[in-house]
This record gives sequence, structure tokens and C-alpha cells, in this order.
Amino acid sequence: MQAQSNLVGDFLHVVEMAAIACARSIGHGDRKHSDHLAVEAMRKAMDKIAMDGTIVIGEGERDEAPMLFVGEKVGMGTSFEPIDIAVDPLEGTNLCATGASNAIAVMAAAEKGGLLHAPDLYMEKLVVAAPAKGKVSLDYSVAKNLAIIAESANRKVEDLTIVVLERPRHEQLINDIRSVGARIQLIGDGDLSAAISAAVSGTGVHALMGIGGAPEGVLTAAAMKCLNGEIQGRLRTAENTASKEKAEAMGVDFDRIYFTDDLAPGENIIFAACGVTDGGLLKGVRFFGDGIRTASLIMTYKPKTIRFTDSVYVRGGEDILIRF
Ligand code: FBP
Repeated sequence: MQAQSNLVGDFLHVVEMAAIACARSIGHGDRKHSDHLAVEAMRKAMDKIAMDGTIVIGEGERDEAPMLFVGEKVGMGTSFEPIDIAVDPLEGTNLCATGASNAIAVMAAAEKGGLLHAPDLYMEKLVVAAPAKGKVSLDYSVAKNLAIIAESANRKVEDLTIVVLERPRHEQLINDIRSVGARIQLIGDGDLSAAISAAVSGTGVHALMGIGGAPEGVLTAAAMKCLNGEIQGRLRTAENTASKEKAEAMGVDFDRIYFTDDLAPGENIIFAACGVTDGGLLKGVRFFGDGIRTASLIMTYKPKTIRFTDSVYVRGGEDILIRF
């Protein structure tokens, strides 16, 4: 995208606005309201951007989502470059509602066709960092994948920590991981933030395994392109997702393993995330007297740039003391 450098700053602002808006409701116990605040703020910030954006991963279909629905046009209009956009204005609505860690505001963008238009499904995921990329497989047993991840990281299987969403559907997976002695971090929600941690050395997370949302899988793929990590995903239906027939009509192949490049084939990928609640990778939004501080991750695939950045929004007058 020609104006990529401008868009980087614009998208950073978009996730910061979404995070700030919903962070006001941290711990209020109303996940829908928190989500609504993030969606509204993200939508408003997007409309000020010089782009011809189309939401390809969003808040659902037009009839169930008032804003940021799949197919919605965002940005200043068609005289600008057309780009596809994936959003999750508040990833971890429950985390925000309860004040738990790792809620983030997220978006990714790419040239037209650069992000898979994944219907509302589940996805069986395996996410690893660069050293294990191309070596693990969703077709292998859990034990074999853990042995590969350990060897690639030059450590013992017992030294690994694998993040898994705490869900009844993961009983077998959890038993399989425990049976080879690897450690598990069970999370209530937020497998996208966990996936990013799995690709970044020093976070203490070595892989993400298990079934989560497919939209989060596409956003994860955009992040993996920038971080040299890998996601492998197999799409799944459930009672609360799109039906198998509808998904197949949209071209979904339920037998196929989707790799990072299948989920995010774009060359001009931008990924932005801003912490809402405090997390392992990003601090949450901090409100202080006359200002607000945010912590974000903003990345591009080509050129490969990874920025962890703090912003301070000063809300008072000229006499406000700026804190470190
Ligand atoms: P929300 O932000 O929509 O609440 O989703 C959070 C999340 O935990 C994702 O991180 C994860 O991919 C998905 O929900 C798992 O879905 P489910 O809660 O149905 O198991």
C-alpha cells in the first residue's frame, strides 16, 4: 500500500481510541457494553482515515451488528486506496468486564484479498514461534508437536508452557499436554493475545493450542507474518457458529489445514493492538488526572517493523505535568 507509513500512525490511533473507550468500563461486569464502547470508538476513528476500507472480519453480519459489520465500508472514501480490514475492537470482552488481564483492542489491514474472509466459525489452532515454524503440524500428535517445539527452543518438554483456553472441549488436549510433562497456562478468554505471546521470545509462552474463534485466527495470522511465527488452523463448526453448509458455500474446506499465508496472504500487512487491561505483553490503559497513557504493538510485514509504543494523551491545559 503506497501510504503505508501514514496508515501505521492512523491504525495505531484507531486501536488506542478503542482501548481507551472500553477501558472506562473495566470491571463493570457488562461485556456487551464494553464491546459497544470499543466498537463505536474504533468506527469513529476509522472514518477520519484517508482510505477506502472494507471490513472483512468484523462484528458479524450487517443485520446483527450495527457497526463494523462484514462488508461495511470505512474510511474517507473511494478516491483512496482500497484495503481490507479485520477488526476485533475488544478481544476478550469478559476479561474487560471482569478486570482480568490481557484484554486488547486489535485490527489488521492488507491490500484487497490480503486477509481470508473467514466466516463466523471456530478454528483448531497451533501457534508457534519462528524456530518451530514449518516443523510442527496439526496432523501430528500433541506429544510429537511438543517434542519439536522443545527441541527447536533448545529446552526440555517439561520447560515449555502451552496456553490453552479453559473449555470443556479441551479436556483431551489438556490431558495430552500434561501426560508428557509440559506446563499449561489455562486462560479464560483471549487466545489472540496468547498467540502473539507464543511468537515472542521472553514472554514465557511457547505455544498456543486448542480451539478458539476463526476471526481471531485470521488476526493471529496477520501478526504471525510480522513476527515470523506460524499459525496452523482447521475450521470447525459448533452450535453458536455459522452452519457447515453456509461455510462450505463460502468456500470453506473443513479438512484443510490453513497456514499463516492462507489466512493472511497479503504482502502489505499492518497489525495494531493496544492493551485494555494489563497483560503479559502490553500494559492496560492508565488514566491519571489530566491524561491517559496507552501501550501498543504496531507492526508491518514489509518492511518488517515491530514497534512497542506508549502514547500519552494530555487532556488538560498547558500547565499539566507530563509523567514518565
Ligand atoms: P470475545 O472477545 O468475543 O469475548 O472472545 C474472546 C475469546 O476468548 C477469543 O479469544 C477466543 O478465540 C474465543 O473467545 C473462544 O470462543 P468461546 O468463548 O466460544 O470458546
